[in-house]
Amino acid sequence: MKIINRVDDLRDLVAEARKAGKTIGLVPTMGALHPGHLSLVERARLDTDLVVVSVFLNPTQFNNPEDLRTYPRTVEADVALLEQAGVDIAFVPTVEQMYPEPDERVFDLGNVMRVMEGEMRPGHFNGVCQVVSKLFEMSQATHAYFGEKDFQQIAVVRAMAKQMGFDLEIISCPVVRESDGLARSSRNVRLTPEARRVAPAIYATLKASIDFARHHTVQQTVDWVTATINAYPEMEVEYYSVVDGVTLEPVSTWDDSNYIVGCITVYCGDVREIDNITYRKVVNPR
Ligand code: PAJ
Repeated sequence: MKIINRVDDLRDLVAEARKAGKTIGLVPTMGALHPGHLSLVERARLDTDLVVVSVFLNPTQFNNPEDLRTYPRTVEADVALLEQAGVDIAFVPTVEQMYPEPDERVFDLGNVMRVMEGEMRPGHFNGVCQVVSKLFEMSQATHAYFGEKDFQQIAVVRAMAKQMGFDLEIISCPVVRESDGLARSSRNVRLTPEARRVAPAIYATLKASIDFARHHTVQQTVDWVTATINAYPEMEVEYYSVVDGVTLEPVSTWDDSNYIVGCITVYCGDVREIDNITYRKVVNPR
């Protein structure tokens, strides 16, 4: 595995690969790697000839400075994991390499960027679009891999790639969970023992709500999920939105769309956990 810190070195390597007709799979990450990230790497290894994983804690997507300050940083362990996972290139740039000048681009992708996380974390998706568009361009990727844990992020990245005319395939990969159901997340290490004990109730409730939804309206289901999770003193639902899985427009009945997903954000103590559940997916719209 090559460890690359400079954009020019990455450009040279990927240009060579593209010239040789190879496909390039990009897995963008912010480090603090766990099995969720590694599942994307595995998928990229199956699909593509040259796997590039970026490890870059992107400051422009953090609307909360405290979140950036306390974000786990484990670069050495990350690089070792990537080596073991059979990655070809670990791209670990500095902030100066990624942003030699301040990135002042403002993305307007409509509804997918404005709702849910877009509303709660102003500027977050703009920063994601800034860094991901740079990574797409620098890596010359033919394929890029994203986790459904960040369900809205995939919709935003697809819209950005379309708007900017990137010719690459975006592949979404299923959520990897702990054995008790909690979605794997780099921020899980920040949970207090008490919050960690109750956090699996998020996914347990989402799963149970599939049954509940069979006999209740969308609004009743939203209220039930919210109340069930809020009954734990350590947890507070920030939002629970039931939306169309492609447009992220809210749905008001279970017949509104063939693809319906519930997206949740919960404060577990100080830690913001996000998760989602699919209620309906009649056809594969992606
Ligand atoms: P990060 O949170 O490090 O996640 C990197 C990728 O791993 C994302 O596509 C995310 O959805 C995926 N991922 C994280 N946890 C997962 C899990 N439990 N199961 C499956 N996939 C999981 O998302 C980002 O970084 C950044 O916003 C980034 C796209 C790298 C841009 O900076």
